[in-house]
Amino acid sequence: MARGLLRVTVMAAHPRAAGLEAGATNGPRLLLADHHRQIEEACSALRACAQVNGPRALVEQYRAFEQAVLDHLEAEETVILPDYAADHQEDAYAIREEHAEIRTLLFRIGVEVELHLVRLETLQGLIDMLHAHAAREDASMYPWAQVHLPLSTKRRLFVRIGRSLRKLAELQALVGPHADPSAGVEKTWRLPMKVSSLIQRNVISCTIHDDLHRAAQLMWDHDIGCLPVIDELGHVAGMITDRDICMAAYTQGLPLRSLPVTLAMAKHVFACNANDELDAVERTMSEHQIRRMPVIDDQGHPVGIISINDIARAASAGKVSTGEVASTLAAVSAPRSLVASSAA
Ligand SMILES: [Fe+2]
Ligand SMILES: [Fe+2]
Repeated sequence: MARGLLRVTVMAAHPRAAGLEAGATNGPRLLLADHHRQIEEACSALRACAQVNGPRALVEQYRAFEQAVLDHLEAEETVILPDYAADHQEDAYAIREEHAEIRTLLFRIGVEVELHLVRLETLQGLIDMLHAHAAREDASMYPWAQVHLPLSTKRRLFVRIGRSLRKLAELQALVGPHADPSAGVEKTWRLPMKVSSLIQRNVISCTIHDDLHRAAQLMWDHDIGCLPVIDELGHVAGMITDRDICMAAYTQGLPLRSLPVTLAMAKHVFACNANDELDAVERTMSEHQIRRMPVIDDQGHPVGIISINDIARAASAGKVSTGEVASTLAAVSAPRSLVASSAA
């Protein structure tokens, strides 16, 4: 694969020395078929790279790959298809339809990348689609182009495809050394999810000067079971849950209005940042058996809450591994006596 790309790079960089004039006369079919092949190989390399190195490598390179495919489609649509349609209207229409399908799939994969979820099967589906499309064109449009395109049009095509091949070579140089298709296969890989994609940003809080009656009222009014407790500077000073309120009322035997929030709140707060990865949050939740965490900004002000329920909902939507959520939930829900004995 790398040798092929190197050859193309040399041709694109030195068109006359590599025989562009001769190619422009005789070679649209070979050129376009070669472009297809190298696009498929680039997609295979991205797929393999994703298997081996995880999502980030693909995220960085996917747009360049996508652009190479779009370059190919646009070159055909601009340079060949208008004239080809005059001779072979039905086939030209079918090719345009397939271009639309390829664009749709490219867009879908791009969205999956943005959503932090890309399926290797989807990439394989694109490879298959491109392969079938190349076979159709190589059986009909490319031989026609070989014979009927004027020399000036062939030259235009060579310039456009040559430019795209150069980009593919650059892409391959970046991806190729890191891709090893023989590595173990996983059906799906995921980008590390950030806390920011899941947090509830409507933060309801009480202050360190409130009493438990006020805290309970806020929980009742907003149908929530936990509040960050804010100090005079707007920092999170503690967390209080509905269970904390119940236990304080039971153990103190006093009305809620006479009990300060600071008496019942957890003062040792585990917080996270919106840019933290979800894996780290799940680990903290598991280790410390907490179901909710305040999300704070760099100044320590609360910007949201993230809960194990939010993560479970993300799992049901396919954004997070259900296995990871199950193990986090199991750890969070384990009886404290068991946790204490296992830690001892
Ligand atoms: Fe095409
Ligand atoms: Fe094509």
